[in-house]
Amino acid sequence: MHRQARVRFLLAVLLAVITRHGEPAAAAPWPLTPPRAKLVYAFPNDTFIENLHVLPRSGHILLTTLSSGRLLSIDPDAANPSPRALAQLGTATGLTGIAELGRPGLGVYAVTGGTHAGFRFAPGSMAVFVVLVVPLRPNHPPSAVVVSSIPFPDTTMMNGLAPLVDDPFTVLSADSLQGRILRINTVTRVADVAFADAALSPGGNPAMPLGINGLRVVGDYLYFTNSGQGTYGRVPIDRLGNKTGNAQILATLGSSTNLTFAFDDFNLDRCGYAYVSLHDSQVVKITPDGVLSAFAGGPGAVPAILSPTSVALANDGASIYVTTGGLGTMAPPGGQLLNYEIPTLC
Ligand SMILES: *[C@@H]1O[C@H](CO)[C@@H](O)[C@H](O)[C@H]1NC(C)=O
Ligand SMILES: *[C@@H]1O[C@H](CO)[C@@H](O)[C@H](O)[C@H]1NC(C)=O
Ligand SMILES: *[C@@H]1O[C@H](CO)[C@@H](O)[C@H](O)[C@H]1NC(C)=O
Repeated sequence: MHRQARVRFLLAVLLAVITRHGEPAAAAPWPLTPPRAKLVYAFPNDTFIENLHVLPRSGHILLTTLSSGRLLSIDPDAANPSPRALAQLGTATGLTGIAELGRPGLGVYAVTGGTHAGFRFAPGSMAVFVVLVVPLRPNHPPSAVVVSSIPFPDTTMMNGLAPLVDDPFTVLSADSLQGRILRINTVTRVADVAFADAALSPGGNPAMPLGINGLRVVGDYLYFTNSGQGTYGRVPIDRLGNKTGNAQILATLGSSTNLTFAFDDFNLDRCGYAYVSLHDSQVVKITPDGVLSAFAGGPGAVPAILSPTSVALANDGASIYVTTGGLGTMAPPGGQLLNYEIPTLC
Protein backbone atom coordinates (compact mmCIF):
# COMPACT_ATOMS: atom_id res chain seq x y z
CA MET A 1 0.00 0.00 0.00
CA HIS A 2 1.22 3.53 -0.81
CA ARG A 3 2.38 5.26 2.40
CA GLN A 4 -0.22 8.03 2.26
CA ALA A 5 -2.96 5.52 1.55
CA ARG A 6 -1.77 3.39 4.46
CA VAL A 7 -1.88 6.37 6.84
CA ARG A 8 -5.40 7.16 5.64
CA PHE A 9 -6.39 3.54 6.11
CA LEU A 10 -4.97 3.42 9.66
CA LEU A 11 -6.71 6.70 10.50
CA ALA A 12 -9.99 5.29 9.25
CA VAL A 13 -9.54 2.15 11.37
CA LEU A 14 -8.66 4.28 14.40
CA LEU A 15 -11.69 6.47 13.82
CA ALA A 16 -13.91 3.40 13.56
CA VAL A 17 -12.51 2.04 16.84
CA ILE A 18 -12.99 5.38 18.62
CA THR A 19 -16.54 5.74 17.34
CA ARG A 20 -17.31 2.25 18.53
CA HIS A 21 -15.69 2.23 21.96
CA GLY A 22 -15.10 5.86 22.85
CA GLU A 23 -17.38 8.83 23.01
CA PRO A 24 -20.67 8.28 21.20
CA ALA A 25 -20.76 9.81 17.74
CA ALA A 26 -22.39 13.23 18.01
CA ALA A 27 -22.80 14.40 14.45
CA ALA A 28 -23.15 11.57 11.99
CA PRO A 29 -20.85 11.83 8.95
CA TRP A 30 -22.67 11.99 5.64
CA PRO A 31 -22.73 8.80 3.63
CA LEU A 32 -20.38 9.07 0.65
CA THR A 33 -23.07 7.83 -1.72
CA PRO A 34 -26.59 8.86 -0.77
CA PRO A 35 -29.11 6.01 -1.10
CA ARG A 36 -31.53 6.00 -4.03
CA ALA A 37 -34.41 8.11 -2.76
CA LYS A 38 -37.98 8.69 -3.91
CA LEU A 39 -40.64 11.02 -2.62
CA VAL A 40 -43.76 8.82 -2.84
CA TYR A 41 -46.27 11.40 -1.65
CA ALA A 42 -46.30 14.81 0.02
CA PHE A 43 -49.43 16.00 1.81
CA PRO A 44 -50.33 19.51 0.71
CA ASN A 45 -51.88 20.51 4.02
CA ASP A 46 -51.23 20.18 7.74
CA THR A 47 -51.36 16.36 7.81
CA PHE A 48 -48.69 15.25 10.31
CA ILE A 49 -47.93 11.61 9.47
CA GLU A 50 -47.03 9.81 12.68
CA ASN A 51 -46.57 6.16 11.76
CA LEU A 52 -46.91 3.54 9.04
CA HIS A 53 -47.26 -0.16 8.36
CA VAL A 54 -46.67 -1.97 5.06
CA LEU A 55 -49.44 -4.47 4.29
CA PRO A 56 -47.90 -7.90 3.70
CA ARG A 57 -49.41 -8.90 0.36
CA SER A 58 -50.35 -5.78 -1.55
CA GLY A 59 -47.57 -3.52 -0.31
CA HIS A 60 -50.16 -0.79 0.29
CA ILE A 61 -49.20 1.28 3.32
CA LEU A 62 -51.32 2.15 6.35
CA LEU A 63 -50.67 5.64 7.72
CA THR A 64 -51.65 7.28 10.99
CA THR A 65 -51.72 11.01 11.51
CA LEU A 66 -51.67 13.15 14.62
CA SER A 67 -54.06 15.53 12.87
CA SER A 68 -57.08 13.21 12.54
CA GLY A 69 -58.59 9.96 13.80
CA ARG A 70 -58.84 8.55 10.29
CA LEU A 71 -56.67 5.60 9.34
CA LEU A 72 -55.24 6.25 5.87
CA SER A 73 -53.81 3.99 3.19
CA ILE A 74 -51.77 4.66 0.09
CA ASP A 75 -50.51 2.52 -2.78
CA PRO A 76 -46.84 3.53 -3.14
CA ASP A 77 -46.54 1.75 -6.49
CA ALA A 78 -49.46 3.57 -8.14
CA ALA A 79 -48.64 5.89 -11.02
CA ASN A 80 -49.92 8.81 -8.94
CA PRO A 81 -50.09 7.66 -5.32
CA SER A 82 -52.84 9.36 -3.36
CA PRO A 83 -54.03 8.66 0.19
CA ARG A 84 -57.45 7.23 0.99
CA ALA A 85 -59.25 7.45 4.34
CA LEU A 86 -60.16 3.89 5.38
CA ALA A 87 -61.96 4.38 8.68
CA GLN A 88 -62.51 6.83 11.50
CA LEU A 89 -61.34 5.17 14.73
CA GLY A 90 -63.87 5.97 17.45
CA THR A 91 -63.80 9.60 18.47
CA ALA A 92 -60.00 9.83 18.16
CA THR A 93 -58.57 13.09 16.80
CA GLY A 94 -55.04 11.71 16.49
CA LEU A 95 -53.55 8.26 15.91
CA THR A 96 -50.12 6.87 16.78
CA GLY A 97 -48.76 3.30 16.54
CA ILE A 98 -49.81 0.47 14.21
CA ALA A 99 -49.11 -3.23 14.83
CA GLU A 100 -50.10 -6.33 12.92
CA LEU A 101 -51.91 -8.93 15.04
CA GLY A 102 -51.80 -12.71 14.73
CA ARG A 103 -49.86 -13.69 11.65
CA PRO A 104 -48.92 -11.80 8.49
CA GLY A 105 -51.80 -11.69 6.06
CA LEU A 106 -54.58 -12.22 8.61
CA GLY A 107 -55.53 -8.59 8.06
CA VAL A 108 -56.03 -7.64 11.72
CA TYR A 109 -54.24 -4.58 13.05
CA ALA A 110 -54.01 -2.72 16.33
CA VAL A 111 -53.89 1.08 16.14
CA THR A 112 -53.58 3.43 19.11
CA GLY A 113 -55.12 6.87 19.35
CA GLY A 114 -57.15 9.35 21.34
CA THR A 115 -57.90 13.03 21.72
CA HIS A 116 -54.66 14.66 20.68
CA ALA A 117 -53.41 17.62 22.73
CA GLY A 118 -49.87 18.73 21.85
CA PHE A 119 -47.27 16.36 23.29
CA ARG A 120 -49.92 14.26 24.97
CA PHE A 121 -53.47 12.99 24.67
CA ALA A 122 -56.43 14.00 26.82
CA PRO A 123 -56.59 11.95 30.04
CA GLY A 124 -58.86 8.93 29.62
CA SER A 125 -59.10 9.29 25.84
CA MET A 126 -56.56 6.70 24.66
CA ALA A 127 -57.45 3.27 23.31
CA VAL A 128 -56.21 0.41 21.19
CA PHE A 129 -58.47 -0.02 18.15
CA VAL A 130 -58.61 -3.45 16.55
CA VAL A 131 -59.16 -2.93 12.84
CA LEU A 132 -59.76 -5.46 10.07
CA VAL A 133 -58.02 -4.26 6.88
CA VAL A 134 -58.76 -6.35 3.79
CA PRO A 135 -59.46 -5.71 0.12
CA LEU A 136 -63.12 -6.47 -0.61
CA ARG A 137 -62.12 -7.90 -3.99
CA PRO A 138 -58.78 -9.29 -5.15
CA ASN A 139 -56.34 -6.64 -6.37
CA HIS A 140 -58.50 -3.85 -4.98
CA PRO A 141 -57.25 -1.36 -2.41
CA PRO A 142 -57.97 -2.30 1.21
CA SER A 143 -61.12 -1.44 3.11
CA ALA A 144 -61.23 -1.27 6.89
CA VAL A 145 -63.71 -1.85 9.65
CA VAL A 146 -63.18 -1.20 13.36
CA VAL A 147 -63.78 -4.49 15.21
CA SER A 148 -63.34 -3.33 18.79
CA SER A 149 -61.58 -0.83 20.99
CA ILE A 150 -59.87 -1.42 24.30
CA PRO A 151 -59.50 1.68 26.47
CA PHE A 152 -56.28 2.38 28.38
CA PRO A 153 -57.50 5.13 30.72
CA ASP A 154 -54.35 5.47 32.87
CA THR A 155 -52.08 7.05 30.26
CA THR A 156 -51.78 10.25 28.25
CA MET A 157 -49.40 8.86 25.62
CA MET A 158 -49.37 5.57 23.74
CA ASN A 159 -46.69 6.00 21.09
CA GLY A 160 -44.87 3.16 19.26
CA LEU A 161 -46.70 -0.18 19.15
CA ALA A 162 -45.44 -3.74 18.56
CA PRO A 163 -46.83 -7.26 18.91
CA LEU A 164 -45.24 -9.87 21.18
CA VAL A 165 -43.49 -12.55 19.13
CA ASP A 166 -44.91 -15.47 21.12
CA ASP A 167 -48.33 -13.97 21.80
CA PRO A 168 -49.05 -11.99 18.64
CA PHE A 169 -52.51 -10.88 19.71
CA THR A 170 -50.91 -8.97 22.58
CA VAL A 171 -49.29 -5.62 21.84
CA LEU A 172 -46.78 -3.53 23.77
CA SER A 173 -47.20 0.23 23.66
CA ALA A 174 -44.66 2.93 24.54
CA ASP A 175 -45.83 5.33 27.24
CA SER A 176 -43.45 8.17 26.37
CA LEU A 177 -44.43 10.37 29.29
CA GLN A 178 -44.26 7.90 32.16
CA GLY A 179 -41.44 5.70 30.81
CA ARG A 180 -43.55 2.56 30.79
CA ILE A 181 -44.31 -0.38 28.54
CA LEU A 182 -48.08 -0.85 28.38
CA ARG A 183 -49.44 -4.28 27.48
CA ILE A 184 -52.81 -4.94 25.85
CA ASN A 185 -54.17 -8.40 25.13
CA THR A 186 -56.58 -7.76 22.27
CA VAL A 187 -58.37 -11.09 22.83
CA THR A 188 -58.96 -11.03 26.59
CA ARG A 189 -59.01 -7.19 26.57
CA VAL A 190 -56.74 -7.17 29.64
CA ALA A 191 -54.66 -3.98 29.66
CA ASP A 192 -51.84 -3.59 32.19
CA VAL A 193 -48.37 -2.12 32.65
CA ALA A 194 -45.69 -4.66 31.66
CA PHE A 195 -42.92 -2.62 33.32
CA ALA A 196 -41.45 0.82 33.88
CA ASP A 197 -37.76 1.67 33.57
CA ALA A 198 -35.65 4.79 34.03
CA ALA A 199 -34.12 4.11 30.58
CA LEU A 200 -37.59 4.67 29.08
CA SER A 201 -38.43 7.93 30.88
CA PRO A 202 -38.05 11.40 29.31
CA GLY A 203 -35.04 12.00 31.53
CA GLY A 204 -36.07 15.42 32.81
CA ASN A 205 -35.11 17.33 29.64
CA PRO A 206 -37.58 20.24 29.38
CA ALA A 207 -36.63 20.77 25.72
CA MET A 208 -37.85 17.27 24.76
CA PRO A 209 -40.58 15.97 27.06
CA LEU A 210 -40.92 12.48 25.52
CA GLY A 211 -39.03 9.37 26.63
CA ILE A 212 -39.45 6.02 24.85
CA ASN A 213 -40.82 6.67 21.38
CA GLY A 214 -40.56 3.60 19.12
CA LEU A 215 -40.31 -0.04 20.11
CA ARG A 216 -39.81 -3.36 18.29
CA VAL A 217 -39.70 -6.87 19.69
CA VAL A 218 -36.99 -9.09 18.18
CA GLY A 219 -36.17 -12.42 19.80
CA ASP A 220 -35.86 -11.97 23.56
CA TYR A 221 -35.39 -8.21 23.37
CA LEU A 222 -37.50 -5.10 23.21
CA TYR A 223 -35.55 -2.51 21.19
CA PHE A 224 -36.43 1.14 21.76
CA THR A 225 -35.59 4.74 20.99
CA ASN A 226 -35.77 7.37 23.74
CA SER A 227 -36.34 10.91 22.40
CA GLY A 228 -35.50 12.94 25.53
CA GLN A 229 -32.46 10.90 26.58
CA GLY A 230 -31.21 10.57 22.99
CA THR A 231 -30.68 6.83 23.32
CA TYR A 232 -31.23 3.64 21.32
CA GLY A 233 -31.19 0.47 23.38
CA ARG A 234 -32.85 -2.76 24.33
CA VAL A 235 -34.41 -4.49 27.33
CA PRO A 236 -34.47 -8.29 27.67
CA ILE A 237 -38.05 -9.52 28.00
CA ASP A 238 -39.80 -12.86 28.34
CA ARG A 239 -42.56 -14.22 26.13
CA LEU A 240 -45.18 -12.29 28.13
CA GLY A 241 -43.36 -9.00 27.69
CA ASN A 242 -42.07 -8.90 31.28
CA LYS A 243 -38.62 -7.44 31.82
CA THR A 244 -35.97 -10.06 32.61
CA GLY A 245 -32.83 -7.95 32.94
CA ASN A 246 -31.37 -4.44 32.85
CA ALA A 247 -31.84 -2.08 29.91
CA GLN A 248 -28.76 -1.88 27.66
CA ILE A 249 -27.99 1.39 25.88
CA LEU A 250 -26.50 0.61 22.46
CA ALA A 251 -26.08 4.11 20.99
CA THR A 252 -26.36 7.66 22.29
CA LEU A 253 -26.71 11.03 20.54
CA GLY A 254 -23.73 13.04 21.70
CA SER A 255 -25.55 16.35 22.31
CA SER A 256 -28.59 17.29 24.34
CA THR A 257 -31.91 16.75 22.60
CA ASN A 258 -34.69 19.18 21.73
CA LEU A 259 -37.58 19.44 19.28
CA THR A 260 -35.19 19.67 16.32
CA PHE A 261 -32.66 17.10 17.55
CA ALA A 262 -34.22 13.87 18.79
CA PHE A 263 -34.81 10.27 17.81
CA ASP A 264 -38.33 9.35 16.75
CA ASP A 265 -39.60 5.88 15.74
CA PHE A 266 -37.43 3.31 13.91
CA ASN A 267 -37.35 -0.14 12.41
CA LEU A 268 -34.88 -2.97 11.95
CA ASP A 269 -33.94 -4.59 8.67
CA ARG A 270 -33.39 -8.31 8.18
CA CYS A 271 -29.74 -7.94 9.23
CA GLY A 272 -30.62 -6.26 12.52
CA TYR A 273 -29.55 -2.79 11.42
CA ALA A 274 -31.81 -0.11 12.86
CA TYR A 275 -32.96 2.74 10.63
CA VAL A 276 -33.91 5.52 13.01
CA SER A 277 -35.67 8.78 12.26
CA LEU A 278 -33.78 11.72 13.73
CA HIS A 279 -35.47 15.13 13.90
CA ASP A 280 -35.54 17.33 12.15
CA SER A 281 -34.26 16.04 8.82
CA GLN A 282 -32.29 12.77 8.94
CA VAL A 283 -32.50 9.02 9.01
CA VAL A 284 -29.54 7.38 10.75
CA LYS A 285 -28.43 3.78 10.75
CA ILE A 286 -27.31 1.91 13.88
CA THR A 287 -25.50 -1.44 13.66
CA PRO A 288 -26.30 -4.25 16.12
CA ASP A 289 -23.10 -3.20 17.97
CA GLY A 290 -24.38 0.35 18.33
CA VAL A 291 -22.29 2.15 15.68
CA LEU A 292 -24.33 5.12 14.47
CA SER A 293 -23.91 6.67 11.02
CA ALA A 294 -25.83 8.98 8.71
CA PHE A 295 -28.07 7.23 6.21
CA ALA A 296 -30.24 9.81 4.46
CA GLY A 297 -31.39 13.39 4.65
CA GLY A 298 -29.59 16.18 6.42
CA PRO A 299 -28.93 19.73 5.21
CA GLY A 300 -29.42 20.14 1.46
CA ALA A 301 -30.63 16.59 0.84
CA VAL A 302 -32.97 16.06 -2.12
CA PRO A 303 -35.69 15.22 -1.39
CA ALA A 304 -35.63 17.05 1.95
CA ILE A 305 -36.86 15.04 4.92
CA LEU A 306 -39.26 17.26 6.88
CA SER A 307 -39.46 16.01 10.50
CA PRO A 308 -39.04 12.22 10.09
CA THR A 309 -41.37 10.25 12.34
CA SER A 310 -41.09 6.54 11.56
CA VAL A 311 -39.60 3.85 9.34
CA ALA A 312 -40.91 0.58 7.85
CA LEU A 313 -39.23 -2.11 5.82
CA ALA A 314 -40.67 -2.80 2.35
CA ASN A 315 -41.93 -6.34 1.80
CA ASP A 316 -38.93 -7.24 -0.39
CA GLY A 317 -36.51 -6.06 2.31
CA ALA A 318 -34.64 -3.95 -0.24
CA SER A 319 -35.92 -0.53 0.77
CA ILE A 320 -37.39 1.38 3.67
CA TYR A 321 -40.34 3.75 3.78
CA VAL A 322 -40.01 6.85 5.94
CA THR A 323 -42.90 9.01 7.16
CA THR A 324 -42.58 12.64 8.18
CA GLY A 325 -44.60 15.27 10.00
CA GLY A 326 -44.01 18.03 7.46
CA LEU A 327 -42.75 21.28 8.89
CA GLY A 328 -43.58 19.76 12.24
CA THR A 329 -45.74 22.57 13.48
CA MET A 330 -49.04 21.23 12.15
CA ALA A 331 -48.78 23.75 9.35
CA PRO A 332 -48.48 23.19 5.61
CA PRO A 333 -46.63 21.66 3.91
CA GLY A 334 -47.67 18.42 5.54
CA GLY A 335 -46.09 15.06 6.03
CA GLN A 336 -44.32 12.96 3.42
CA LEU A 337 -43.92 9.32 2.51
CA LEU A 338 -40.40 8.62 1.24
CA ASN A 339 -38.68 5.48 0.01
CA TYR A 340 -34.94 4.66 0.26
CA GLU A 341 -33.06 1.73 -1.16
CA ILE A 342 -31.08 -0.15 1.54
CA PRO A 343 -28.27 -2.71 1.32
CA THR A 344 -29.60 -6.26 1.48
CA LEU A 345 -26.28 -7.98 2.31
CA CYS A 346 -25.57 -8.37 6.01
C1 LIG B 1 -55.61 17.21 3.85
O1 LIG B 1 -55.30 16.29 2.83
C2 LIG B 1 -55.90 15.05 2.98
C3 LIG B 1 -55.38 14.14 1.88
O2 LIG B 1 -54.72 14.83 0.88
C4 LIG B 1 -57.40 15.17 2.95
O3 LIG B 1 -57.97 13.90 3.17
C5 LIG B 1 -57.83 16.10 4.04
O4 LIG B 1 -59.23 16.32 3.97
C6 LIG B 1 -57.11 17.44 3.93
N1 LIG B 1 -57.43 18.24 5.09
C7 LIG B 1 -57.65 19.53 5.02
C8 LIG B 1 -57.90 20.21 6.32
O5 LIG B 1 -57.65 20.13 3.96
C1 LIG C 1 -45.43 -10.71 34.34
O1 LIG C 1 -45.88 -9.46 34.77
C2 LIG C 1 -47.18 -9.46 35.26
C3 LIG C 1 -47.58 -8.03 35.51
O2 LIG C 1 -46.57 -7.33 36.22
C4 LIG C 1 -47.27 -10.30 36.52
O3 LIG C 1 -48.59 -10.31 36.99
C5 LIG C 1 -46.83 -11.70 36.17
O4 LIG C 1 -46.80 -12.48 37.34
C6 LIG C 1 -45.48 -11.70 35.50
N1 LIG C 1 -45.24 -13.04 35.00
C7 LIG C 1 -44.07 -13.65 35.11
C8 LIG C 1 -43.99 -15.05 34.58
O5 LIG C 1 -43.09 -13.13 35.63
C1 LIG D 1 -31.06 21.47 19.54
O1 LIG D 1 -29.99 20.64 19.93
C2 LIG D 1 -28.89 20.64 19.04
C3 LIG D 1 -27.90 19.61 19.53
O2 LIG D 1 -27.75 19.65 20.91
C4 LIG D 1 -28.31 22.04 18.96
O3 LIG D 1 -27.25 22.07 18.05
C5 LIG D 1 -29.40 23.02 18.52
O4 LIG D 1 -28.91 24.32 18.56
C6 LIG D 1 -30.61 22.90 19.43
N1 LIG D 1 -31.69 23.71 18.88
C7 LIG D 1 -32.43 24.51 19.63
C8 LIG D 1 -33.51 25.24 18.93
O5 LIG D 1 -32.21 24.67 20.81
